[in-house]
Amino acid sequence: MEFSNPFPTNVPRKMNAAELARAIMQDIAAELDAVALYQAHIDATDDERAKKVLAHARDDEKEHVGEFMALLEILDPKQADYLKKGKTEIAEQLGKK
Ligand SMILES: [Fe+2]
Repeated sequence: MEFSNPFPTNVPRKMNAAELARAIMQDIAAELDAVALYQAHIDATDDERAKKVLAHARDDEKEHVGEFMALLEILDPKQADYLKKGKTEIAEQLGKK
């Protein structure tokens, strides 16, 4: 089994603000990957015990995505503006101004 490298962009010192924001983006990606992985395993088994545990873990990871997104918006106001713009554009496309 191959594990992902958790420090592909780390430097041998404390991260600056931009590096920290980028690290949080990687953390968000990892959480989303975990959500997809757990869901795939739920879909691939009929064992209700495993489904229950995996679903709980999946939902925890979804919450972590939200927590890291909130943190990213605090750490990177420009990214927060892009997120807000994206939400506005989708609301306009769907007629929900
Ligand atoms: Fe998580």
